Amino acid sequence: MTKKELPFILAIDTSCDETSVAVTQGYTYKSNVIASQVQLHKNYGGVYPTVAKQAHHKNINPSISIALKRAGVKNSDIDAIAVTQGPGLAPALEIGIKKAKQLATDNHLPLIAINHIEGHVLSALIQPQKPINYQSVKFIKKIRFPVLGIVISGGHSEFIKINNFGNYEKIGQTIDDAAGECLDKVGRMLNLGYPAGSAIEKLAKKGNRNKYEFPLPMTKVHNFNLSYSGLKTAAKNKIKQLKQQKVTMDTQFISDFCASFQEIVFEHITYKLNKILKQQNFHEVWLGGGVAANIRLRNKIRFTLKKHDLKLKTAYKKTLCQDNAVMIGITSYHHYFKKNFVKNIKQLERIPRWSITDL
Ligand code: KG4
Ligand code: ZN
Repeated sequence: MTKKELPFILAIDTSCDETSVAVTQGYTYKSNVIASQVQLHKNYGGVYPTVAKQAHHKNINPSISIALKRAGVKNSDIDAIAVTQGPGLAPALEIGIKKAKQLATDNHLPLIAINHIEGHVLSALIQPQKPINYQSVKFIKKIRFPVLGIVISGGHSEFIKINNFGNYEKIGQTIDDAAGECLDKVGRMLNLGYPAGSAIEKLAKKGNRNKYEFPLPMTKVHNFNLSYSGLKTAAKNKIKQLKQQKVTMDTQFISDFCASFQEIVFEHITYKLNKILKQQNFHEVWLGGGVAANIRLRNKIRFTLKKHDLKLKTAYKKTLCQDNAVMIGITSYHHYFKKNFVKNIKQLERIPRWSITDL
């Protein structure tokens, strides 16, 4: 394969609270711009849709210019535009899609519509940012399917059977809150700000994970689904009870609470993972989503996989587990070669609730 055959893709993700634009080539990337809105949403304790839409609107053009500049490419070097079509926040998705349609039309480029969850699943394949190396494309041929994909984020917690690129089956998912959402809500009860996942991880490192007990959910249910709303309520009740007992809410208390609560949130995942691997065969396991940045979660998953003689693959950099446009670009690379282009660009609509199994 010659250098020219690997397309340059300009990818956009505005699914939630990050305006992200990347220039990718194969499984590597030349730039990755993330304009974060975390500060704007902090006061609301969650993502406020109208504020997100306004911020995406303000950030989209500068993010595109910076992504092209950092990549050292011009508009005319780009071979295709890729954009997240869903799932995500409808007003946020709208901004990225509108921009992508305009770029594709004005520059006469193919447009590729990407499922955000497929992006998180394939993020494990992103290769280090460096001058293009053709080895990075060859490794894909060595992948043995089926692969188990695990996406643990603020909006999703899913186990996905990957039969091949583009061929996915959901084998388990949360029936209520996602794991990240649960951590964020409990973090809010402890005044840890929003989002709380990484603050909980930091505090948990100094805490005793055996200090407080929580019930492991869904152990009697014979499927691979997850549930976090009961755990969230258990945390709320425990905090209330401890406050009534006049327990001092000092750093040691919060660290112990975070360590214990984080542990049960992750134990729920590894308990179900172990169940899956006892019943089904996979050759590889790929982990993605914002919560996948957590070292305790990774270690617990690795420990479980070891029992089944499997290794864990995640994005080589923690920031690539969270929302980013690189994962959208590398995912669109497959679609580019299959010519999965949007047929009628004008009519492309956002799909806020789009399952990976409906590709
Ligand atoms: O994938 P992501 O960036 O956005 C969604 O698609 O949801 O994930 C965001 C979620 C938030 O709930 C955040 O608290 C959580 O990922 N998160 C973490 C960590 N970093 C981010 N959770 C646990 N430990 C972390 N280090
Ligand atoms: Zn996401």
